[in-house]
Amino acid sequence: MIAAYKTNHGTCYYGDATLLDKTTLWKEIEGKVDLLFTSPPFALARQKEYGNLSGEDYVKWFSSLSDSFSRLLKPAGSIVIEMGNAWIKGKPVMATQPLRALIEFINQGDLHLCQQFIWHNPARLPSPAQWVNVERIRVKDSFTHLWWMSKALKPKADNRRVLKDYSQSMLDLLERGTYNAGARPSEHQIGETSFLTNNSGAIPSNVFTISNTRSSSPYLTYCERNGYKKHPARMPTEIVEFFIKFLTDPNDLVLDPFSGSNTTGAVAESLGRSWISIEQELEYILGSRGRFEKPTNLEAIGEEINDENIF
Ligand SMILES: C[S@@+](CC[C@H](N)C(=O)[O-])C[C@H]1O[C@@H](n2cnc3c(N)ncnc32)[C@H](O)[C@@H]1O
Repeated sequence: MIAAYKTNHGTCYYGDATLLDKTTLWKEIEGKVDLLFTSPPFALARQKEYGNLSGEDYVKWFSSLSDSFSRLLKPAGSIVIEMGNAWIKGKPVMATQPLRALIEFINQGDLHLCQQFIWHNPARLPSPAQWVNVERIRVKDSFTHLWWMSKALKPKADNRRVLKDYSQSMLDLLERGTYNAGARPSEHQIGETSFLTNNSGAIPSNVFTISNTRSSSPYLTYCERNGYKKHPARMPTEIVEFFIKFLTDPNDLVLDPFSGSNTTGAVAESLGRSWISIEQELEYILGSRGRFEKPTNLEAIGEEINDENIF
């Protein structure tokens, strides 16, 4: 594991995250991580360029990470893992491997499943193309799961830190001060003063609807300017921000072992959390520096950096 660059709050390492427990870094962070947030390579019928596995190999690979990941956590720490859906090659049916991998991961790490979140991306291109576009016998697959897990039944979490702005109708209601009381079709009884307390915002749901179509971030500009490959599977910053605020306090430690373009490190940095990221593709590491103001580039990654190129 080689430290590639450092910032005020974190370090990005170049190396293989599956070997983390055999490194000196492991000794520094075992039992100290407040949030492990990551998108590992998905189980895919068709291999992507960064080594996704398929079938039973994926289940074995993914669940083998569980023991070391859970040993990294503080007792009240959390793991949040993004997982996509998978389809069986050549057939219009979904693969069960991602679900089986998740269940194995939970069992082997002795973890609780705190809650499931969904990231719905309305801008996702229709797929699997053969069944959706050509034969028209399935609909567009447009979401991924984010599975929140922990060792404790009540890991550190506070939804007051992630409140959303009230809708206009809620603001009107708060101003009016009266509510349409009575029985609802759901058989809930709503009192006259129910829901009339102003809590400074609405409690968010476990569904994010975010189109990942932004094209002009400083990260992309930096990659273009320096000729680095742009990461093809970047996480929206809003989702990372949600989980870091919801599940950690300032100065807590956030780890992303499959960090890609290092969205996690950059958001953690902006929120004053400590962070550690690991990525095995040097080119993604080089590009990810563009997310930070003047990162300290360590000689280990063997490239002279012109400070003027760093945002
Ligand atoms: C889905 S991407 C993560 C994208 C990231 N969330 C972002 O916003 O850019 C998964 C990343 O894991 C990296 N990766 C795959 N296997 C790895 C390993 N064994 N150790 C470290 N990184 C790995 C891949 O190169 C890829 O960049």
